[in-house]
Amino acid sequence: MNILVSGGTGFIGSHTCVELINAGHDVIVFDNLSNSKENTLDKIETITGKRPKFYLADMRNEDDLEKIFSENSIDAVIHFAGLKAVGESVAMPLEYYKNNICGTLNLLEVMKKHDVKNFIFSSSATVYGKPEFIPITEKCPLGETTNPYGETKKMQERILTDFQKANPDWHIVLLRYFNPIGCHESGIIGEEPNGIPNNLMPYIMQVAAGKLPMLRVTGNDYDTPDGTGVRDYIHVVDLAKGHVAVLKKLADESGVYIYNLGTGKGYSVLDIVHAFEKVNGITIPYQFAERRPGDIAVSYSDPSKAKEELGWVAEYDLDRMCLDAFRFAKNTLTAN
Ligand code: NAD
Ligand code: WQD
Repeated sequence: MNILVSGGTGFIGSHTCVELINAGHDVIVFDNLSNSKENTLDKIETITGKRPKFYLADMRNEDDLEKIFSENSIDAVIHFAGLKAVGESVAMPLEYYKNNICGTLNLLEVMKKHDVKNFIFSSSATVYGKPEFIPITEKCPLGETTNPYGETKKMQERILTDFQKANPDWHIVLLRYFNPIGCHESGIIGEEPNGIPNNLMPYIMQVAAGKLPMLRVTGNDYDTPDGTGVRDYIHVVDLAKGHVAVLKKLADESGVYIYNLGTGKGYSVLDIVHAFEKVNGITIPYQFAERRPGDIAVSYSDPSKAKEELGWVAEYDLDRMCLDAFRFAKNTLTAN
């Protein structure tokens, strides 16, 4: 199939391009490079032997999108493009709403005009807010979000659901990612956030690469076995393969389909630190600090719906996630 990947030079997008190409799909990428680099395309080519067709395009600009759709015959869109930093979204809410909401509206409009009816959306476990039950199934009610970023995910899910109701021949898939970490085993592509990382694994990677002195463990008084927050960390390559699994089902009935993409296992911050230290033979200095505002104690998925309906399960364990993350940190972060 011809797959258009928005945000395809980003962290999850680039890994998904690799898996799409490996599965025999033709990949077209667009990205405005606000949080990624064009040389990611070289890296995808190094790994797969195939270079995705690339458009430097901004989804806020309808003309940019029109050009892509008029020059290509597209079977499905996988929509990764968006701003994703929680703290930044609190400081810059208008930018987040404009980029994530208006961008998605533009994309849907141009797809409708060109009769492209298959849409896979990068949603997030953040839509569950403080979850009503654990492990979280797709039946768990959506919760209160604590920041504009999370709200854009909830709003986009609502927009897509309303849109599909009005356009019942569309096939829309909402993928709620848990906590993607790790990187491709080549160590060539991975996660490189701008500035000081907000998320746990990118922070640990910078400590491991000698760029930051120590990790701050934000909260050790949660109601969890060791007091630190528990999350469902999933290898980004497993996550990428989830998208390939979804594409296999696109010929099935139209509708809105929702899947959790997680492992179903919860690990604490200290579990992650200790696994990273053990498999990589290094020490990650850390100190306990106050809780981060808006953080919840525990979030992990029940991923059985994706297994039953898509035949997809996450295969890589935590050790592998930590090994691959450190390989990328050594290759890339120390070289910058
Ligand atoms: P990323 O920042 O690495 O990738 C997003 C890409 O979108 C970037 O390359 C950026 O340049 C591009 N982009 C942003 N605004 C754009 C615009 N207006 N036009 C064109 N391109 C634009 O982020 P990621 O971690 O790969 O996340 C991908 C998607 O998955 C996002 O929608 C994110 O919200 C969602 N998600 C991420 C996580 C996570 O923890 N990484 C978890 C759940 C959901
Ligand atoms: C994990 C755990 C922290 C940093 C966020 C977004 C969510 C989603 C994924 C996109 C928590 C602790 C963290 C640090 C720490 N993104 N921590 N020291 O908060 O589950 O989810 O990213 O959709 O929307 O909110 O992930 O990696 O930030 O935190 O101790 O320097 O690590 O308190 O318990 P989170 P995270």
